[in-house]
Amino acid sequence: MAEHISNQEILAKAGETDPLTDRPVHLLRLDGVGKHYGNVIALREVTMAVDNGRVTCVLGDNGAGKSTLIKIIAGLHQHDAGTFTIMGEERKLSSPREALDAGIAAVYQDLAVVSLMPIWRNFFLGSELTTGFGPFKRMDVNRMKETTRTELAAMGIDLRDVEQPIGQLSGGERQCVAIARAVYFGAKVLILDEPTAALGVKQSGVVLRYILQARDRGLGVIFITHNPHHAFPVGDRFLLLKRGRSIGYYDKKDITLEELTAQMAGGAELAELAHELEQLGGHTQALQEAKAEAEAVQAEAPKAESPTA
Ligand SMILES: Nc1ncnc2c1ncn2[C@@H]1O[C@H](COP(=O)(O)OP(=O)(O)OP(=O)(O)O)[C@@H](O)[C@H]1O
Ligand SMILES: [Mg+2]
Repeated sequence: MAEHISNQEILAKAGETDPLTDRPVHLLRLDGVGKHYGNVIALREVTMAVDNGRVTCVLGDNGAGKSTLIKIIAGLHQHDAGTFTIMGEERKLSSPREALDAGIAAVYQDLAVVSLMPIWRNFFLGSELTTGFGPFKRMDVNRMKETTRTELAAMGIDLRDVEQPIGQLSGGERQCVAIARAVYFGAKVLILDEPTAALGVKQSGVVLRYILQARDRGLGVIFITHNPHHAFPVGDRFLLLKRGRSIGYYDKKDITLEELTAQMAGGAELAELAHELEQLGGHTQALQEAKAEAEAVQAEAPKAESPTA
């Protein structure tokens, strides 16, 4: 059974201790963070931590607040409640540039790539290497190609030709190039917003493997997904969001895939849906399946715990 741990326990779990205050220092830490847009409360009382060499998964349905959360971390929006600390220092980031300077890089699902440009150009886009000085300064094409090749190889990505237009790569391969790029440019924290959402099973597997590669290179990874089957095998911690609230924050050892799936699906809601479909006169196979799933989920769901403790 999933054991729900308190915010303080979680924050104390990983990370080193600050010698002055004797409190744990995390790469990133959010403590009771909230955000509203006008009178819409998009996020409230969210607590999580990110550490070197660990993958923190953020799970939740549409509108749960996942994007709002990462926008705060990536410097696109600012929180209006709680605290956000980077390496123990309280921060409010006012631009993505500031986040990048702090070592926080985000890879979005709709990657900003220039499809017709070669892979190596995209890898160095905006940070081109040059050679020579003053009027003799020009792009160091050979070095950029070579670096792209070696960096991709170091992540275990085997691309035949870095001269190939990036638009010819599959969605999964493009995600992998973006991950390798963030690693090369010195990211300490890598945020991946639903990198597997549009991918098939095999391609998802490829991206999940690179998430582990980034972790093994010492990055703190934040992996946002709808899919507990993608999160569970790679995650060290799981934050579950629902309508802007945290409904659970678990260490891997305290939760099983079945429990995570049950928490995500919300057994009671599925049962309600099945009932509603029945009322609408549904006699289809889909109804049978929804009913069976609701029963299975309810059988699995951890009971008698207050999820917002
Ligand atoms: N700029 C904005 N202005 C007003 N409301 C917003 C804004 N951005 C998000 N919201 C609201 O905040 C809530 C959380 O949205 P958010 O985009 O963070 O959810 P999400 O978990 O990323 O959803 P999805 O899975 O659909 O991407 C939603 O109710 C949304 O309508
Ligand atoms: Mg989103």
